[in-house]
Amino acid sequence: MDDLKAKYLDAIGAAADEATLEDLRVQAVGKKGEISLKMRELGGMSPEERQVAGPALNALKDEITSALAAKKVALADAALDERLKLEWLDVTLPARDRRAGTVHPVSQVWEECTAIFADMGFAVAEGPQVEDDWYNFDALNIPSHHPARAEMDTFYMHRAEGDNRPPHVLRTHTSPVQIRSMQAQGAPIRVIAPGRVYRADYDQTHTPMFHQIEGLAIDRDISMANLKWVLEEFFSAYFGTSVKTRFRASHFPFTEPSAEVDIQCSWEGGTVKVGEGDDWLEVLGSGMVHPKVLSAAGVDPAVWQGFAFGMGIDRIAMLKYGIPDLRAFFDSDLRWLRHYGFSALQVPTIRGGV
Ligand code: PHE
Repeated sequence: MDDLKAKYLDAIGAAADEATLEDLRVQAVGKKGEISLKMRELGGMSPEERQVAGPALNALKDEITSALAAKKVALADAALDERLKLEWLDVTLPARDRRAGTVHPVSQVWEECTAIFADMGFAVAEGPQVEDDWYNFDALNIPSHHPARAEMDTFYMHRAEGDNRPPHVLRTHTSPVQIRSMQAQGAPIRVIAPGRVYRADYDQTHTPMFHQIEGLAIDRDISMANLKWVLEEFFSAYFGTSVKTRFRASHFPFTEPSAEVDIQCSWEGGTVKVGEGDDWLEVLGSGMVHPKVLSAAGVDPAVWQGFAFGMGIDRIAMLKYGIPDLRAFFDSDLRWLRHYGFSALQVPTIRGGV
């Protein structure tokens, strides 16, 4: 029995894994294990012998069983230690950089303009980008063979053979929204219409798609003076400094009289500053809405009159935020977007108290 004990305790001590341990358990105390077989021999012994051998065998069995259990725990602990050594994680490492996107300058300026005009009582109107040519041209007093149609470098929609609908264009300006909103609402009306417009043109200051904001104010007694006040208020709020405007006589088929509007600026070392100096920069077209345009939209020109203007959103974004090339606006270059983009939480930088 001493030999048995020494044999198994040594083997258990030396076992390197659980499988070996299980083999040893079966060999020693399993149903047909050495100690179990010995216990079976008790039946053939004399009572005196049995009294000595029985307890001794039971004690041996207990000792081996508990040695097996202790070794099993020791092996599990060692395995855990090993895993902890291998599978470690440095929780003090900084988290991976997750960049938030930015608000595009066009969106930012769109919001700024909308906020300023909203303060002056203008509602926001919208119209389709694929526009019926009647809205884009005819209703705005630009008849079929008028040179303005050619000048605009219009994109015409493809027409399938047998398509009898009126021709459609990608709108060349936001002015058709004047017609749509007067048709929908009549007069009096005070709306702005920001949106995308399209012309076949491409260089440092022109892209085939760009953005305009249209303004329209119609009532019984609206004059050019109101137009000038609204625009000066707008530019001063937008640029955050008092801005003078200069009206130059011009021509648009849909306004009479018409004026192109310049804002005061200075040029220093190749950069432009708005609201100072004695240079001028053209930023929009405007005028008193032509009686024919009012009639086309179902508004009686004998009763109602007012002004309209159309301004380039991208252009005034470039001016305010010092962006030199318009084409980069639409390149989707992440470096550009991160540099010129705005944080979603950034409050528009406009002067309050209009
Ligand atoms: N629609 C004109 C343009 O795109 C601008 C404009 C709008 C002029 C309203 C007068 C009145 O150039």
